[in-house]
Amino acid sequence: MAFREIKPEELNFNPFQRIGKQWMLITAGTEEGYNTMTASWGGAGVMWGKPAATAYIRPQRYTKEFVDREETFTLSFYGEEYRKALNLFGTVSGKDRDKIKEAGFTPYFTDGTVAFEEAEVILVCRKMYADEISRKSSLINRQKRNGIHRRIITRCILQRLKKFW
Ligand SMILES: Cc1cc2nc3c(=O)[nH]c(=O)nc-3n(C[C@H](O)[C@H](O)[C@H](O)COP(=O)(O)O)c2cc1C
Repeated sequence: MAFREIKPEELNFNPFQRIGKQWMLITAGTEEGYNTMTASWGGAGVMWGKPAATAYIRPQRYTKEFVDREETFTLSFYGEEYRKALNLFGTVSGKDRDKIKEAGFTPYFTDGTVAFEEAEVILVCRKMYADEISRKSSLINRQKRNGIHRRIITRCILQRLKKFW
């Protein structure tokens, strides 16, 4: 299948639905070796004035070795018919099994990185920033922050509703 290049601004994309519910694949590597994993944590937005995507990869993931090693990686998105494959990519490690072959996926090499022919949308990403989330900062006051987060969301929804009333 031929892919058509589009600008990030042209994406018709709801990140809550597309990443959180339909999931994505994080893939990195070259023809010499690559790996992929399913992810449902992440985002798409703007950082330092540039279109940016965010992914959260636990240290034990084999895919992290490839993402760390390479300058680029892909986030790719699939139709519902590939849910089974995404489940496989999210439960089996490429360290233990050739899960890509098992799923029958075909690698699509582009811009020095890789995604899959089966994808509907591929975001080709160049790394801008990577860091470890410290346990301390992520767990302290979690409940408090969740509370604030919910209140902000409620306000946004109310404001939007007011526009329609
Ligand atoms: C629905 C779903 C979402 C997932 N999201 C993430 C994620 O955002 N970050 C992460 O580190 N692991 C996530 N995982 C787990 C990895 O996909 C899983 O551990 C995978 O087997 C890692 O493969 P690898 O060792 O070949 O890299 C998710 C798994 C599933 C099923």
